[in-house]
Amino acid sequence: MVTGGAGYIGSVFVRELLNKGYDVTVLDTLFFGEDSLADIKDRIKLVKKDIRVANKADMEGAYAVVDFAALSNDPSGELDSLLTYDINHMARTNIAKLSKKAGVQKYLAPSSCAIYGNTEELATEVSPVNPLTAYAKANYQWENDILPLADDRFSVTVFRQSTVYGLSHKMRFDLLVNSFTQQAFLNRRIKIKGNGAEFRPFVHVKDDCNAFVSALDADSAQINKQIFNVGSNEQNIKVSDLMNMIPDALHLECEREFGDWVDKRNYRVSFDKIATSLKFKARHSITDGIKEIYEALKSGALDPNDPRFITVGWYKKLISEGALKLLSNS
Ligand SMILES: NC(=O)c1ccc[n+]([C@@H]2O[C@H](COP(=O)([O-])OP(=O)(O)OC[C@H]3O[C@@H](n4cnc5c(N)ncnc54)[C@H](O)[C@@H]3O)[C@@H](O)[C@H]2O)c1
Repeated sequence: MVTGGAGYIGSVFVRELLNKGYDVTVLDTLFFGEDSLADIKDRIKLVKKDIRVANKADMEGAYAVVDFAALSNDPSGELDSLLTYDINHMARTNIAKLSKKAGVQKYLAPSSCAIYGNTEELATEVSPVNPLTAYAKANYQWENDILPLADDRFSVTVFRQSTVYGLSHKMRFDLLVNSFTQQAFLNRRIKIKGNGAEFRPFVHVKDDCNAFVSALDADSAQINKQIFNVGSNEQNIKVSDLMNMIPDALHLECEREFGDWVDKRNYRVSFDKIATSLKFKARHSITDGIKEIYEALKSGALDPNDPRFITVGWYKKLISEGALKLLSNS
């Protein structure tokens, strides 16, 4: 069972699972539509549902639940912090509890390295965290509530993902690598609000998905009650350096424009644990991601202006139309 399986990561992950021979159920509100699943619709079971109203029967029969459904970034999380806690903390915690009751063996929690917030040192899974936004705080509270649910029969694993990049069946142009590539394509210019001095860890969407697949394949004893940072040490990059990688990868002239906003989020992360324990290795580079997105834009396969591809803008619209709101039982 993949919640949020129609989303940016989920839609790539579902295909990886199908390739590996898994039976897949996707539970998703389809906030961004269902185009991302169009070509595999007859190979999956699709349940159009909000995780806030899911019940035990939805999880029954599943070997594992991978819980991608959430408001998926800091700006979206700030639109309505109550809504963010409601979905990202409360509803996902409930999904874990329902999974346990339904006899699911593994619950995989796609959290975020954003919970490190601002660190001087390379953050490991046992470093103090510093969640700075409603999105990051909700992730941290969810982690704290679900890890104690783990026992011999119910394995819980937290994956703190890096900022993801690369092509997906449901694109996101609000993620840094993807956004910079889109801007280079549209304007030959890359603009950021700050000075780009902050660090972030990055991971290609296919590598990210492989981390989850390897946890499905792993012995529960190896992953139960564990937190893993997902990414690779060499893809901790300063944002201003990332801006320079775009023209280099594409052999393009590209202007860069900076603003005076200060991004307090600045973290570099250690990925030694996942490399050692799960033998995780990133197979894709940032240059690969830039090139594949640019090619898709150039060929017309990818629309650079689809409004659904800017998460915060799309959620703002859904909230204004009443399609995304607190529920009566919230
Ligand atoms: N993409 C990244 O760089 C990144 C990094 C770290 C963590 N994450 C986390 O990974 C997860 C997936 O991210 P993504 O980039 O695929 O996001 P996304 O926004 O593209 O996809 C989220 C999916 O969840 C669905 N959804 C949202 N709220 C729902 C609800 N209440 N009930 C049912 N479905 C709901 C949406 O319809 C969408 O299909 C999120 O939890 C996100 O916070 C993502």
